[in-house]
Amino acid sequence: MMTVLFSRIKSTLFLLFLPCFCSGQPAPPLLRFSIFLDPSNMVYLRWDHDKQELMMFELQVLTTGWVAFGFSPHGELPGSDIVIGGVFPNGSIYFSDCHVADETTLEEDESQDYQLLSVTENKTSTTMLFKRHLRTCDPNDLDITVDTVRLIAAFGTDDTVQFFKGQRFSKSLFLMRYRGEPSGDLCVFLFQFAVPAEETKYACTFIPLPMVKQKHHIYKFEPVITPHNITLVHHILVYACGNASVIPNGIDDCYGANPDFALCSQVLVGWAVGGESYQFPDEAAVSIGTPWDPQYIRLEIHYSNFDLLPGLIDSSGVRIYYTPELRKYDVGVLQTGIFPFPVHFIPPGAKSYRSYGLCNSSQFDEMNGMLVPDLHVFAYLLHTHLSGRGVKAAQYRNGEQLRIICEDNKYDFRLQEIRDMKEILIIKPGDEILVECNFQTLDRSGITFGGPSTMNEMCLTFLFYYPRNNISSCMGYPDILYIAHVLKQEASDAVEAMMAMDFVDWDNDTVKIAEKAAKEADQVVMIKAINVSPPSEKFVGGEMDLALMFQE
Ligand SMILES: *[C@@H]1O[C@H](CO)[C@@H](O)[C@H](O)[C@H]1NC(C)=O
Ligand SMILES: *[C@@H]1O[C@H](CO)[C@@H](O)[C@H](O)[C@H]1NC(C)=O
Ligand SMILES: *[C@@H]1O[C@H](CO)[C@@H](O)[C@H](O)[C@H]1NC(C)=O
Ligand SMILES: *[C@@H]1O[C@H](CO)[C@@H](O)[C@H](O)[C@H]1NC(C)=O
Ligand SMILES: *[C@@H]1O[C@H](CO)[C@@H](O)[C@H](O)[C@H]1NC(C)=O
Ligand SMILES: *[C@@H]1O[C@H](CO)[C@@H](O)[C@H](O)[C@H]1NC(C)=O
Ligand SMILES: *[C@@H]1O[C@H](CO)[C@@H](O)[C@H](O)[C@H]1NC(C)=O
Repeated sequence: MMTVLFSRIKSTLFLLFLPCFCSGQPAPPLLRFSIFLDPSNMVYLRWDHDKQELMMFELQVLTTGWVAFGFSPHGELPGSDIVIGGVFPNGSIYFSDCHVADETTLEEDESQDYQLLSVTENKTSTTMLFKRHLRTCDPNDLDITVDTVRLIAAFGTDDTVQFFKGQRFSKSLFLMRYRGEPSGDLCVFLFQFAVPAEETKYACTFIPLPMVKQKHHIYKFEPVITPHNITLVHHILVYACGNASVIPNGIDDCYGANPDFALCSQVLVGWAVGGESYQFPDEAAVSIGTPWDPQYIRLEIHYSNFDLLPGLIDSSGVRIYYTPELRKYDVGVLQTGIFPFPVHFIPPGAKSYRSYGLCNSSQFDEMNGMLVPDLHVFAYLLHTHLSGRGVKAAQYRNGEQLRIICEDNKYDFRLQEIRDMKEILIIKPGDEILVECNFQTLDRSGITFGGPSTMNEMCLTFLFYYPRNNISSCMGYPDILYIAHVLKQEASDAVEAMMAMDFVDWDNDTVKIAEKAAKEADQVVMIKAINVSPPSEKFVGGEMDLALMFQE
């Protein structure tokens, strides 16, 4: 029997007419803690408590119907302490403190102990802000103590309140968090992924970052790996999406038929097998909540199912720690290396083939819109696809090599992770950053071109630094027309030169000739600033002596 017993409330207290504080509205309260109460991230709770034994809640639900929140004694409905509210289509609001009398009956409390502060609605969401005392003395309200609470959240699609027919979620939560203890909030994103019986699978999904109304800092990422009897999760990468990206839904192959699942290439963090959490330095963290910040991330999980076991379900993901207590600086990520498109090519049958991409930062100030402060680089992440065997980045100033920034000569595609610098390295605007990648294509019979799919190649070094500027990438690529001519191919533009590579008779000699020509060719440097598209193109002469960098 699913009778709806709500009429009693509707006719009595249910309509409220709150005074309007139109002039000088108080700023929204700073609620330190927050969490999604449901797996689809539709119900978002923020809360905080004060010395007056009051706890304030803000419930944000993706509905324009009624919303409900409350406490259950042990997870069951009877005996639960519930508040319900919403905004009618005509703008009137309703709010009530109730309790669940039995499986089908919701009754309004005699004593109304929850105080509504506001309830608002826009095209998509209803937001209800309210507070109550930890102990109300009403037997129909449950005390809020230091124990874990069993929360209940529910909502409907319209304003006809039918508590037992709405969508309902329950969640155990510890509410009595204190300052000084884990200072930040937390959100967890978990995959629910049916791992196919394939050796290698790259699964991607897009998830929204915490909905914060003012600037917050993400100071820590942590992988959450579901234990299985075999190592299933190989690595996890988190990429930031620009706020203009059109985000696809669901989970799919990262580099499969739908190219949208490879969107967002700015790495934020990465862990390899067995990786621990990554914490940013004390002085800098990743900003969220301002118009310059990412709103979505792409989560990429690499699964290895070497035993080809069928029917495996994995639910691994990431935990994100964020806080309104801001660090001194925002973290920026500079993508350097070779611009990932088909002008970058790797001949087949090469035991070792080196490619180069140059970043000339002399235009940074102009591209940034103001002077760029020195970049304090504290970490890096190297990235190629399957044929990468080594990655190296070096810094030059006034034509001289200052140092190797980072290198891995035994690079393993399966071990992509953020690595800290031994000490902070300063990059000044005007410096050049040269990235060299070493590829091996003995197992390939055709040319490998630059691009996003796993069968394409990349040659990138992500530099993590502070303070953040507007430059998101600075990558180069060689003049392919020059390479084609050295290889005695006819071509009058870059596209013809690219196609001509298929007609080269590749043997170990032509591979060496191509490598040398690519090294000597002028580099075109592409610098991209956040939300500036298309990227502006800067031509830079390639006189720099690449031999300085890597003595054979
Ligand atoms: C708004 O709509 C509700 C529900 O239909 C109704 O009870 C209420 O009287 C209306 N309020 C006004 C001010 O018209
Ligand atoms: C509606 O309100 C929610 C919660 O405050 C907010 O996240 C969302 O962006 C708003 N949507 C629109 C269309 O304004
Ligand atoms: C892991 O468990 C599955 C069944 O759940 C079994 O088929 C498989 O052999 C186990 N693997 C190992 C390494 O124990
Ligand atoms: C996206 O970025 C632009 C430019 O920085 C900003 O004006 C805009 O508000 C942002 N959009 C959203 C939805 O935050
Ligand atoms: C980014 O560019 C805008 C102008 O385009 C400038 O106002 C802003 O200060 C720049 N941000 C940083 C961090 O340099
Ligand atoms: C280059 O030589 C190696 C043997 O040293 C051979 O395996 C490879 O196929 C050769 N590459 C080409 C393109 O002929
Ligand atoms: C970098 O750009 C500046 C200004 O365009 C130029 O003077 C310098 O030679 C370039 N560096 C290299 C290595 O090409």
